[in-house]
Amino acid sequence: MNIGIIGLGARSVAYTKNLQTYFKEHKIISVCDIDEERLTNYVEFFFKDEKPDVYTDYKELLKDTRLDAVIITTPDYAHREIVLDAMDRDVHIILEKPIEASAERALDIYRRAKGYKKNIMLGFVLRYTPIVERLKAMIDSGEVGEIVSISASENLAPSHSSSYMRRWHRYNRYSGGMMNTKCCHDIDVIRFLVGSDVKKVSAIGRLGIYTHRDGVAEHCCDCPEKDTCLYSFNYAGYKSKTRFDCMEDICVYNSEKDVIDSESMLVEFENGVNLAYELSMASAEETRKGTINCTKATIEYHVTNRTIKIIPRGDGEPIYITLPEAVSGHGGGDLGLLKRFFACCEGGALANDSYDGLVATLTCMAGEISIAEGRTVDFGELMN
Ligand SMILES: NC(=O)c1ccc[n+]([C@@H]2O[C@H](COP(=O)([O-])OP(=O)(O)OC[C@H]3O[C@@H](n4cnc5c(N)ncnc54)[C@H](O)[C@@H]3O)[C@@H](O)[C@H]2O)c1
Repeated sequence: MNIGIIGLGARSVAYTKNLQTYFKEHKIISVCDIDEERLTNYVEFFFKDEKPDVYTDYKELLKDTRLDAVIITTPDYAHREIVLDAMDRDVHIILEKPIEASAERALDIYRRAKGYKKNIMLGFVLRYTPIVERLKAMIDSGEVGEIVSISASENLAPSHSSSYMRRWHRYNRYSGGMMNTKCCHDIDVIRFLVGSDVKKVSAIGRLGIYTHRDGVAEHCCDCPEKDTCLYSFNYAGYKSKTRFDCMEDICVYNSEKDVIDSESMLVEFENGVNLAYELSMASAEETRKGTINCTKATIEYHVTNRTIKIIPRGDGEPIYITLPEAVSGHGGGDLGLLKRFFACCEGGALANDSYDGLVATLTCMAGEISIAEGRTVDFGELMN
C-alpha cells in the first residue's frame, strides 16, 4: 500500500520506524507538515534512499492518486478538517487518538465516518497490547464471571508528566483537557472490556502541582533551582535536527495553561458496571493499572509491568501471569495496531473506530463538565 503521513511529530516517528522495520512491503510515499524545517529534517533523517514527496499543505498530499492510506498524526485540535478531507478522498485512515479536542468537532467526525466504506482506525494502541488482549479473552470467555466494578488509574512520573506543561496539551482548546488527550486510551479500553456504553459521569479535579511559583526563572537553564527541581529539563541540544517533538523552553510551574493535573472520575455503564478512574500527574512511578472485580474472581492487572493476577472468589489459589516483553512502543500496541490496520485493508473485517473514539472523548468531556459545574453528567446530553 502507498501511505501518506500528515503531521511529523513525536507520534509519526513511531509509525515511520515501525513501518520501515516491520512492514517493508508498504511504502511511505508522502509526508506533510506545516513546519518546513521539520519537513526537511524529517525526510533527511528517516529516508536515506528513496525520498517521499513532501507537502506543507495536506490538501495537496491528498490529491496524489497513488495514495491508498493516510496516517494523521497532527495535534488533537488539528484532526477534524484533515480527516473529513481524507474521507472525501476515500482512502484508508489511521487517525491518532483522541478523535478531537472538543465534543462538537468529535461529533462532526463521527457523523461523517458513520458508514464510511474504507477503514478508519483510531490510534487506540492499548487495545492491541498482549495484556489487554489477554484480559479481553478472559472476560469474554466467562471464566471470571461477570464484571461488577473496576478501579483503574494512569499515573505519570515527573519527566513524562511535566512534559505536557511544556507542550500544546496544556491548553484545553488544543487537547480537550488532560483526561481527553492522555486517558481517552484507558476509557476506551475499559469500555471495550466492559462491553457496554457509558451512562453517567461524575468527576473532581484540580491543578495540584504545576501552579505558579515565585523565585524561579522562565527557562530551566537560567533557574536558581535547576539542580534541585524535579522537573528541570536540559534544553541543551534540544533544537537539534533529529528531535521531532514540540517541547517549549519554559518553566512548567509558570507556563500559561488551563488544564488540570489530577482528576478522579466515576463512570456508570449502561449494564450497571461502575468504574472509579484516576489520572495522576503527581506520581513517583509511571504506571497504568487496575482491579476488575468479577462475580467469580478479582483480576489485578498492571499494564506497565505486563502482569495479571487472578484471585478466585472462594476456594483456589491465585494465578499469576507475566507477559513477554513487547517489541514495540506502548507495550506492543503500536505494532499490534498497524498489523490490524493492514489486515483490515487487505480484506479482513472493515474497521471503523469512529464511535469508540467519540465515546472516549465525550466521556472525558463529561468529566470536564462535571468538574466545572459540580454535577453528574448524563452521557446522552453530549450525544446531541
Ligand atoms: N496513540 C498514542 O499512544 C499517542 C501517543 C502520543 C501522541 N498521540 C497523538 O498523536 C497526535 C500527535 O501528537 P504528537 O505528540 O506527535 O504531536 P507533535 O506536536 O509532536 O507533532 C504534531 C506535528 O503536526 C504538525 N501539524 C500541526 N498542524 C498541522 C497541519 N494542519 N498539517 C500538517 N501538519 C500539522 C506540527 O507542526 C507537528 O510537527 C496527537 O493527536 C496526540 O494526542 C497518540
